[in-house]
Amino acid sequence: MKTKHLLQAAALAWSVCTAAIAAEPAQVRLTIAQDTAGPRIEPEVYGHFAEHLGTGIYGGLWVGPDSKIPNTRGWRNDVVQALRKLEVPVVRWPGGCFADDYDWRDGIGDPARRPARLNKIWGNVIEPNSVGTHEFMDLVDQLGSEAYLAGNMGSMPPRAMGQWLEYMTSDSQSALAQERRRNGRDKPWKVKYFGIGNESWGCGGNMRPEYQADLHNQYETFLHAPVVRVASGDGQGNDHLIEVLMERSGSHMDALTLHYYTIPGDWSKHGSAIGFNTQEWATTLKSAMGIGPRIEGVIRLMDKHDSAKRIALYVDEWGTWYDGEPGTNPGFLQQQNSLRDALVAALSFNAFHRHTERVKMANIAQMVNVLQAMALTDGPRMLLTPTYHAFDLYKPFRGATPLKADLQTPRWREGEVELPAVDASVARAADGSTVLALVNLDPKRAARVQTNLSGQATGRVLTAGAMDAHNTFAEPNALVPAPYKAGKSGAPLALDLPPKSVIVVRMTP
Ligand code: AHR
Repeated sequence: MKTKHLLQAAALAWSVCTAAIAAEPAQVRLTIAQDTAGPRIEPEVYGHFAEHLGTGIYGGLWVGPDSKIPNTRGWRNDVVQALRKLEVPVVRWPGGCFADDYDWRDGIGDPARRPARLNKIWGNVIEPNSVGTHEFMDLVDQLGSEAYLAGNMGSMPPRAMGQWLEYMTSDSQSALAQERRRNGRDKPWKVKYFGIGNESWGCGGNMRPEYQADLHNQYETFLHAPVVRVASGDGQGNDHLIEVLMERSGSHMDALTLHYYTIPGDWSKHGSAIGFNTQEWATTLKSAMGIGPRIEGVIRLMDKHDSAKRIALYVDEWGTWYDGEPGTNPGFLQQQNSLRDALVAALSFNAFHRHTERVKMANIAQMVNVLQAMALTDGPRMLLTPTYHAFDLYKPFRGATPLKADLQTPRWREGEVELPAVDASVARAADGSTVLALVNLDPKRAARVQTNLSGQATGRVLTAGAMDAHNTFAEPNALVPAPYKAGKSGAPLALDLPPKSVIVVRMTP
């Protein structure tokens, strides 16, 4: 009996002791230099992707002009207003895999006469073609974004791709330009970016790299308009594909794409968007951090063929991919979005900031209701996700120039997974101020970041008690950023980070 009590007391003392150790904040040192660490962060790395997939377009963004849901020419006002606040720089459309099964001619002319097709890629549902070229260009106009069109190289001839571009951009009296005018658009549109196929190694045609390179060159030849020509790159860790495209098609492209998805499990069982444990938290963040080394690997290969760094790298699909919400069509890729997603977004932004010499665009997959979305809708209701708030927090980084910084952080471990406690990104904003983002990856332990600067840091923090904290239609503001302030004028600056948090601040001396 006595021994049992002694053992219990010892166990209690041990747990109190470990709790005390865990309660001690991780001690982190951040030394910020005034030297720049690369060219500016292009606003386009905060770009978006909207595909004809599930309720990403129909229901999520488009409700049609006759809907009771308030809309402007069919686009729902609540979602557009929320996205306008994010200052979306660019939207990629209409896919994804959908792009290589899409005939642009189905989406022009009188909406009542447009053909209903099967969306064979995503759920085999009817694609009414109510949203086509004119409607999409109206959306980017309403958002104040640039258009990034993805052309069909998988199942349409090169002539069709060239004609789509002519239809949109020609100011001439050609039959295609006249047809556009008859369809209600007099002036040509500005199409800044044009993608030649999508995932040609998979849903875009299951092509060998060598075959894709030949096709890319052929299709590109018939794009007679001044667009940024984007070649469809890797999404599977296939270095050979990058090499072949750079070698054989480098002179026929201005940018090459990379797709990178964060998946806690594998393609057969992705893992849940909410209700996960600490192990899944750690695995997800580790997968998210893998985007950095993959970007570096692709850049090394690109450098071999393009040392002048003329060709940009566009990470034009990235984000978390979990199992679909229970009860939803698995082809709709609908998932909740939690604090964990906000951390994935922040870690990805930090990785993009580290590679500004090549990474000139990135597009989150996807804008609304699909994968790592900014907003979720349910009929007339809309909520903004933690990922939306991460995009909003990081706004001061757009156009800013990354600064060199040395981060000394302890690591933390969960099972087999080991990660840094803290990740950081620092940049000089256009107004001269220093902007700092800090991510505390550890779900249990706070961190104290001692900087070499003095003064104050003012901004916002996104954090919560639960790892899977999220917004619901009943509680749309359960997780929103809170004001954050640290330091005082003239004194050494240290920032306290709660466990599992993202902080973005501006610093003043
Ligand atoms: O974003 C969903 C899909 O993921 C895209 O359609 C495809 O390009 C990628 O495999």
